[in-house]
Amino acid sequence: MCGIIGYRGTGKGPAIVIQGLKKLEYRGYDSWGIAVKSKDRIKVRKETGQIGAAKGLDATGDGSTAIGHTRWATHGNVSRENAHPHMSTDNKIAVVHNGIIDNYQELKTRLANYKFVSQTDTEVIPLLIKENMDKGHDFTTAVRLALNDLDGTFAIVAMHEDYDQMICAKKGSPLVIGVGDNEFFVASDSPAFVEHTRDAIILKDNDMAVIRDNIGIMNYVTGEDVQRDISRIDYSVEDAGKGDYEHFMLKEIHEQPDVVNRTIQGRISKKRTLLPEVDIDMKKVKRIVMVGCGTAYYACLVGEYMIESISGIRVETEYASEFRYRKPLVDRDTLVIAVTQSGETADTLAAIQEAKRKKAKTLSVVNVVGSSIARESDQVVYTRAGPEIGVASTKAFTSQLCVLYLLANMFAGKDPGKIASVGKLIGKILKDEKRIMEIADQYHLKNNFLYLGRGINFPIALEGALKLKEISYIHAEGQSAAEMKHGPIALIDNQMPCVFIAPKDSTYSKIVGNIEEVKARGGSVIAIATQGDEQMKKLADDVIFVPKEADEMLQPLLTVIPLQIIAYYIANYRNCEIDKPRNLAKSVTVE
Ligand code: G6P
Repeated sequence: MCGIIGYRGTGKGPAIVIQGLKKLEYRGYDSWGIAVKSKDRIKVRKETGQIGAAKGLDATGDGSTAIGHTRWATHGNVSRENAHPHMSTDNKIAVVHNGIIDNYQELKTRLANYKFVSQTDTEVIPLLIKENMDKGHDFTTAVRLALNDLDGTFAIVAMHEDYDQMICAKKGSPLVIGVGDNEFFVASDSPAFVEHTRDAIILKDNDMAVIRDNIGIMNYVTGEDVQRDISRIDYSVEDAGKGDYEHFMLKEIHEQPDVVNRTIQGRISKKRTLLPEVDIDMKKVKRIVMVGCGTAYYACLVGEYMIESISGIRVETEYASEFRYRKPLVDRDTLVIAVTQSGETADTLAAIQEAKRKKAKTLSVVNVVGSSIARESDQVVYTRAGPEIGVASTKAFTSQLCVLYLLANMFAGKDPGKIASVGKLIGKILKDEKRIMEIADQYHLKNNFLYLGRGINFPIALEGALKLKEISYIHAEGQSAAEMKHGPIALIDNQMPCVFIAPKDSTYSKIVGNIEEVKARGGSVIAIATQGDEQMKKLADDVIFVPKEADEMLQPLLTVIPLQIIAYYIANYRNCEIDKPRNLAKSVTVE
């Protein structure tokens, strides 16, 4: 939540920062701002709304040091005053911040002599720095002392009118430094600068970096210097761009055949599943608990079906947010698996920390390399989906399902061979895009949808409904088709389309019965069915076929694809902001 960026070098700082902010907007987009050091003065520009809509951006001028922020409001409404950067009362210090300062009220009371102009928690930071400088400290020491007064989570970048340097620090929120030729970039996420450099330093909690012509990193708590390695960003500029697609979401939907192949590459052999990064004695694991949020939580639910039926190990799935607050009964015989695209979701991170406190073994399934959850877990399997920019998750989800399927087979000592063909099968579904688009057109003015599935496709019904509501703002509910009779059936009339996920699997005959019940009450049915299912063609109003080659445990990787495409085109027909839906942010780093 919130994207921050800083630049120090010989290039045109403002333009680079604005460009970077556009790449970070998926993290929050209700307002934005930049501060530029130009001829020893700091100039600030802040606006509400998205950057793309702002006029006269080239007016921000030169400047070799600049910082910027794109906001997802937490404290204080959306206004220019609450947009970052926040300034000290003498306008000499500018700070951008991602995260939440828990003790900001207390600090505000302490800083009562200074005039606050915003309702944010962030504003205490420049004022704390100023308070320290008023006591005679230099900028670096003043920032360090201020950081030690903050409780909560933060990634910050700060600059001072009289100092030729930029300072950044982090605790609990991500921050990466891009190292170029005579220039440095600081950002919440590397797509913000990957077109300038692919060499990056991933900062750790309590790191504070002072950036001049070179870079020095210290632990701001102990004051000791620390060394951090430079790593190479493993995706390209094209991966982080939209290419010829209208939206990132559509591009990411289409990337899935390649993503799935990349996720499993080198991880399957003729007889075994190879995940050398996982070293767990499964004989000592009595139970697995899976945690995640949003789409990642639905991946966990699918994973529960996969692991239980393939390996026979008991699995329970929980929202990370519930797990962490309800004194979970986990111990050293429990394996807690966290699933997360960003690796930064606050509740998932806290769940892993709680599991570790209780001595459980921890494993995370993560997309972003080096992220907080990846680092916090005992072991990590990367999903290799590449940067996912669309707020509604698509390729991250399918890559998570692949890893969970591999894990299930590895726990069982089985050969996961059939997954090798899934990429090709997803490609076949994508060829049907035009037909799915027509169905979306037909239904795009409806106000409510039900998504119904059974067995391993029940979580896919939940995910299908989530996709639709996230990006089209249509009310959609996912349900177990079996539960329909216990309430949701009361909603059925000719204005309520029902999307049934109904491939030929062990629950097929039951779900056919549920479809009949909807039809008998005048409801319209869109069915996701197995290629060649003539019965379904007669029964449903519209059918989208998925290939029949995948076995039951792999079906969700196919059935979810038409649901992503339907959601995308319905939202597109309704002229919604698909990549940046209202009120949402891709990375939820606050609780
Ligand atoms: C947000 C995003 C979702 C995502 C969820 C969990 O709600 O909008 O797309 O599924 O966070 O994020 P994670 O990064 O932990 O997978």
